[in-house]
Amino acid sequence: MATPARSTTPTTPSNPTTYARVYVWELPVRFYHWMNALCVAVLIVTGFLIGSPRALSTSAEAYQSYSFGIVRFLHFVAAFTFFFNFMFRIYWGFVGNQYARWTNFIPHVREQIKEMKEVLQVDVLQTRLKGAISIGHNALAGFVYFLSFLAFLFQSLTGFALYSSMSKSFFPRLFAWITPLMGGDFGVRQWHHAFMWFFILFTIVHVYLVFYHDYIEARGTVSSMVGGWKFERIRRTK
Ligand code: HEM
Ligand code: HEM
Repeated sequence: MATPARSTTPTTPSNPTTYARVYVWELPVRFYHWMNALCVAVLIVTGFLIGSPRALSTSAEAYQSYSFGIVRFLHFVAAFTFFFNFMFRIYWGFVGNQYARWTNFIPHVREQIKEMKEVLQVDVLQTRLKGAISIGHNALAGFVYFLSFLAFLFQSLTGFALYSSMSKSFFPRLFAWITPLMGGDFGVRQWHHAFMWFFILFTIVHVYLVFYHDYIEARGTVSSMVGGWKFERIRRTK
């Protein structure tokens, strides 16, 4: 939804430019994003501690401090939140605005392939951005988010498979069949642990790229995930 031009921002004193505000990220997408980022941060920190527990530095009995129980509890609370938040985003991909929809994530038209190549050159070879790229997710970013959603799914499947052996509840028990399929608890844990590194690497590259694109596109990429708005250059005013 493009609103009429609102601001006349001089990029340099000699070439003032008019911008349109475009409402790109709806509240549910922003809520999903920051909830997801928070959960991933908690899951990585607590997952690390579960994977290599600290030695007890107290003379009290272990059951009296319950510190590892708290770490696991936090992992599980974040895990359930992460999973249902993710399910909600899948639903929103069918009912959200044009920028939230699944068509942005799976390249299926020639323009998207072309844009993927251009963004790859800009990001990796640091070439200059030739034209304007999509105001929502650019085609490369959208595709990478799609791959990351597959990783979210894998991490949820392996996580709930591990959890199924510790819980009698209906929901985690739905995932019990995954454990024998992956060679037992040990195999599932190895994969669950290895995929944590995907989340760490994704976050580093993702945060770098959103700041980089904010800089080269000058359309308010970073703040768009807070307020929802991006800016599109319409014309030079002079
Ligand atoms: C971003 C997502 C996640 C990350 C980065 C992550 C990371 C980890 C790591 C590193 C471990 C320790 C593995 C080891 O070396 O033994 C672990 C354990 C575990 N995770 Fe996750 N996890 C995530 C999501 C989930 C989800 C969605 C669930 C679902 C319930 C889950 C359930 C578990 C369980 C049950 C354990 C084993 C706990 C124990 O044996 O004490 N995780 N996780
Ligand atoms: C300080 C940390 C972060 C910042 C500043 C940030 C910023 C952003 C921005 C600006 C976008 C929209 C980019 C675009 O225009 O295409 C975005 C999208 C996205 N980010 Fe982040 N992000 C952060 C952390 C994370 C983390 C930790 C994750 C998960 C591991 C994550 C996953 C995603 C996903 C999946 C999208 C696509 C959103 C959707 O359409 O559902 N982000 N992020």
